[in-house]
Amino acid sequence: MKLCIIGCGYVGLVSATCFADLGNQVICVDNDYDKIENLKLGIIPFYEPGLRELVTKNYDANRLKFSTELNNSIKKTDIVFICVGTPTKKNSFEADISQVMKLIKKMSSSINKFKIIVTKSTVPIITGDRIEKILSKKVNKKNFSVVSNPEFLREGEAIRDFIYPDRIVVGTNHNRTNKILKKLYGPLISKGANYLQTSRRAAELIKYVSNAFLATKIAFINEISNLCEMTDVKIDDISLGIGLDKRIGQRFLRPGPGYGGSCFPKDTKALLSTAKKFDINLAIIKSVVKSNDDRPDLILKKIFKILNYKIHNKKICFLGVTFKANTDDMRDSICLKLIPALIKKGALIKYYDPTGYKKEFKNYKNVSFSKNINSALEYSDLIIVHTEWNEFKSLNFKQFKSKKLVIFDLKNIYSQNLMTNQNFKYYSVGR
Ligand code: UGA
Repeated sequence: MKLCIIGCGYVGLVSATCFADLGNQVICVDNDYDKIENLKLGIIPFYEPGLRELVTKNYDANRLKFSTELNNSIKKTDIVFICVGTPTKKNSFEADISQVMKLIKKMSSSINKFKIIVTKSTVPIITGDRIEKILSKKVNKKNFSVVSNPEFLREGEAIRDFIYPDRIVVGTNHNRTNKILKKLYGPLISKGANYLQTSRRAAELIKYVSNAFLATKIAFINEISNLCEMTDVKIDDISLGIGLDKRIGQRFLRPGPGYGGSCFPKDTKALLSTAKKFDINLAIIKSVVKSNDDRPDLILKKIFKILNYKIHNKKICFLGVTFKANTDDMRDSICLKLIPALIKKGALIKYYDPTGYKKEFKNYKNVSFSKNINSALEYSDLIIVHTEWNEFKSLNFKQFKSKKLVIFDLKNIYSQNLMTNQNFKYYSVGR
């Protein structure tokens, strides 16, 4: 099939590449000229395992093209996927869908034959209705169909998640459109993905509710981990003990510094904003947002306690600063709250991250990037494990024999017994 994917961010670029790999002809459009020229050279704008190889393979095979030309690209294709950002509006919880709406206004003149317009961007309920209304002012209704087809891939696991999704949700009540999209996703369905056709509004809402539910699981286990710490219970036992109940499930029950990233913080807030418009009180999600917002302060209090409340001139090493492992994404990373607060108290921060230097800290005089993990560790009064990269899991702390290391493992990646047996001062979460 001939596809046009608009927006070369995570969702757009991964979807475009994977659709091309399934044998489709895909044009990936972005208004960022440099990004497009770089992509033609195989330079990916973000870190995602395996993506560069797959982009190159499909670009070389002529199935994947990159362009800044919106209208021509739309004209040449049958299905248009909108994959632009929908960030949180400034000073509000609402999702900013202006990029989506601008696109819709621009594209109407390019709808020269029947086209399926798909929103893969996360958009609030009823956005599809608004898109349809705008397009029908200029285009005959018979010539287009607006569909919601949310994406559920995770950064760091994006290709695997795209190819082996738990479900594919297609929001349309248009039979012809549904048939075409079911055919497009056929190779994934035959590998076991569930295909779910719903109303467009339901599909839009499923995306937000999924993210809100996962965020709820995390906030829930984080709060329970606080109780475990006070009662000498290991959170690992609780996560396993409840997770083995299939109604609960084991995933997303890992405690930590709080959820970050470009999705959970944004989407939980956007859902609250939507609910408010309909005069609905989503009390649970409200408390999840508050619980997660409060978490960095709680973690800071623990850090202060570990350091006996003497923070000035203390050397603190962060292992990993992105919002999670296997990504270079700093958006809503919890350490963007932790590090400035520690600096304010006079701490000296060194960080090591497998994805390198981060511009977010360039204005902090007492924050430095260490290219070498060992030198970052050696001269630290406290090591904070902030993300769960494999590289950190296999660290050999024994090499620092001369020193009694103090480690605060925010991701519980080490065995508590093993660490204390090795005579380290070891702190983790909920145990
Ligand atoms: C999330 C969803 O998992 C995807 O399904 C969705 O498509 C995506 O948002 C999106 O809306 O685009 P992502 O933000 O890439 O994906 O990352 P996750 O792996 O879900 O992690 C989110 C945050 O939760 C991270 O800060 C992570 O460290 C934290 N987390 C996750 C926990 O603290 N505990 C867990 O058990 C799991």
